[in-house]
Amino acid sequence: MTDTPSLPPKPVSLSTVREQVYMVFPNDLNANDTVFGGLIMAQMDRFAAVVADRHAGGVCVTASVDAVHFIAPARRGDVLIFNAAVNRAWTTSMEVGVKVDALSYDGSNRRHILSAYLTFVALDGNGKPRPVPPLQPETPDEQRRYQEAQLRREQRLRHAEEIKQLRATVSP
Ligand SMILES: CC(C)(COP(=O)(O)OP(=O)(O)OC[C@H]1O[C@@H](n2cnc3c(N)ncnc32)[C@H](O)[C@@H]1OP(=O)(O)O)[C@@H](O)C(=O)NCCC(=O)NCCS
Repeated sequence: MTDTPSLPPKPVSLSTVREQVYMVFPNDLNANDTVFGGLIMAQMDRFAAVVADRHAGGVCVTASVDAVHFIAPARRGDVLIFNAAVNRAWTTSMEVGVKVDALSYDGSNRRHILSAYLTFVALDGNGKPRPVPPLQPETPDEQRRYQEAQLRREQRLRHAEEIKQLRATVSP
């Protein structure tokens, strides 16, 4: 069997999604008159998928989403602003970071409402994980996110292993 030739690294800027907007209408609100959280999560997943597909050069699926915390509510008339970028790529998976801001209708008040980290896996034509290009972080922020992503991955894998071992010890 021959090894897969290594793919050339790609810079973050080639796949980044910047300042994508979504205007909030009344049918986007929950009973509390704030934006339904599931709508923001769905939009976030879509933009992150675009970033992952661009970096991988093909179809990717969401493997996991790290804890999502709604820091502040968004309201009727706000414009949601999405920014998403690859933080790091490993063998077949990538971490994409998404930041969501809400801007008031008159543009006077922009606040950070949500951040999340999503892991995507690139798939081949048979639906099996396939290699992705390494990431080439360039700016100081990109380098910081690159380092932090490795810590989060180690936590994710450790957590998954702990759950697996716990389940193996608990009788059905
Ligand atoms: C994601 C998926 C392709 C992984 O398949 P798998 O057979 O478990 O793959 P592997 O064990 O070979 O792991 C492949 C990569 O996925 C990563 N991965 C697998 N499960 C993961 C999880 N829950 N969280 C984060 N990363 C994960 C592995 O770390 C590995 O990354 P690496 O190659 O960069 O080291 C598979 O679980 C799947 O198809 N899930 C459903 C995805 C989907 O339908 N998403 C849409 C939303 S429902």
